[in-house]
Parts: sequence; C-alpha cells; structure tokens
Amino acid sequence: MTIPTLLEVTQLQRGFGSGSERLEVLKGIDMEIVQGELVALMGPSGCGKSTLLNIIGGLLEGDSGDIRLGEMSFGTEKPAQLVQLRREGVGWIFQDFHLLAHLTALDNVALALELAGLEADEADQQAKEALIRVGLEDRIDHIPDQLSGGQQQRVAIARAIAGNRKMLLADEPTGNLDIATGEDILQLFKELCHREDDPLSILMVTHDPNLASQADRMLLLKDGTVAASDIRSAWGIGGEEE
Ligand SMILES: Nc1ncnc2c1ncn2[C@@H]1O[C@H](COP(=O)(O)OP(=O)(O)O)[C@@H](O)[C@H]1O
Ligand SMILES: [Mg+2]
Repeated sequence: MTIPTLLEVTQLQRGFGSGSERLEVLKGIDMEIVQGELVALMGPSGCGKSTLLNIIGGLLEGDSGDIRLGEMSFGTEKPAQLVQLRREGVGWIFQDFHLLAHLTALDNVALALELAGLEADEADQQAKEALIRVGLEDRIDHIPDQLSGGQQQRVAIARAIAGNRKMLLADEPTGNLDIATGEDILQLFKELCHREDDPLSILMVTHDPNLASQADRMLLLKDGTVAASDIRSAWGIGGEEE
C-alpha cells in the first residue's frame, strides 16, 4: 500500500533584497512529506528554516517553484490569495504559543475556528474535541496564566489541529519549554502522526538533536537546499537507538 504524499515542494526559491544587498536564501528546495509523517527540519541559524515554513504555510510567497498541499497548488501566490490554505490547509505552532491572554483555552481554540467561518456552537464543539485530543479536557476553562508552558503549548496545538487540518507547521515548538516538557510535546506530535485514524503530518523546526532523532525523518537545510540527514553523523552524537 502506498501512503499518499501530502506535501510536495519542487524547486522552491526565495531571496530577499536587491542589487548587491540581495540574499538568496532558498535556492531550489525539493521535498515531500507523506500523510502521517513527523519530519524534523534542522540547520544553522539564519539558513532559511522559518522562510521555508512561512512559504509552505501561506504567510510569504516564493520567488519561483511549486508547492502542492493536498489538492491545493501554490508557491508564488501572495499571502492575500492563500486564505483557504491558512484556514483549512495548515495549522501553525510557534515557540511562544501566541495565545490570547484573556481568553480561556476553549475560547482561544474556538475563536480561530470562528474566524475561519464556523458558527459559534460548531466552533465550541470542535474546539472541545481538539482540546481533548491534546489531553487538556480538565483545563478547558483556564486562561493561559493558569496553565504551565507545556499546557499552553498544548492549547496552541489544539488550535492548530482544530478544523481538521492535515498539516502542522511547528517553528521551534519546544524552544521555550524545559527538556521534559519538550519531550512531552514530541510524544504528542508522535501520537497525532502515528494514530490509525486520520493521521496528521508535522514539519517541525528544532535545534534539539535529541528531539529530531525521534522524528520519522530528518532534513537538513544548508546552503539553500535540503538534504536527508543522518542525525547522528550530522551532530556527532552516540549511535543509540531510542
Ligand atoms: N523579511 C525579510 N527581509 C529580509 N531578509 C529576511 C527576511 N526574512 C528573513 N530574512 C533573512 O533570510 C535569512 C533566513 O532567515 P530565517 O528563515 O528566519 O532563518 P532561520 O529560521 O533558519 O533561522 C536570514 O539571513 C534572514 O535575515
Ligand atoms: Mg527561524
């Protein structure tokens, strides 16, 4: 049985600035992610990891190249033309959670769904389901200040997966968490990607070789292109399987 490819990036290029100030950041990215895959993206600071995620997530346009996500095709379209991609295609998870401080966990998730066009009742129902899926059923009415960092990130993950998005883009999702909490978040990612029923795909930027080594696959972004990488040889760490 072949697993369907969810994301396909072909010869994606993107630079910034002009003339002698011009900086070519992405020089022809080719990559694929199948349904149910957890992929870690690593690479030196400033190499273009966030730029790549931003283009895949419809927050920035590429200069050239093609992206296919499910049935959506884009790549060089401006963000204003990619509303449907952001509403239904991808969910975002950031290092600093981006929760609204005065809203409960439920309302943080439901608001995103209402902004995407759902009726309030339906948004509440789907928000609740997403919060249950990330293990926060007993924190639904708490505001961010009443939650730990790991719990706040779980709210952000619930918001990203609510509404049946198939692809999650996580830009250093454990960057503000301690090691144990970061491990918990990685376990949750694995559960979401590896469950039988409707698995998600996650592209996760991380600087932590230990977390990256637990992903299904690791990509290294360097000199403007991506290559599959053997995490252990890339980082010179011991060869123990998890
Ligand atoms: N909007 C922008 N304008 C100009 N340069 C940018 C912009 N966004 C990113 N860059 C540059 O592109 C390069 C890659 O940035 P980024 O994708 O944030 O790297 P990473 O996430 O891997 O640390 C950096 O040199 C950065 O300064
Ligand atoms: Mg970055």
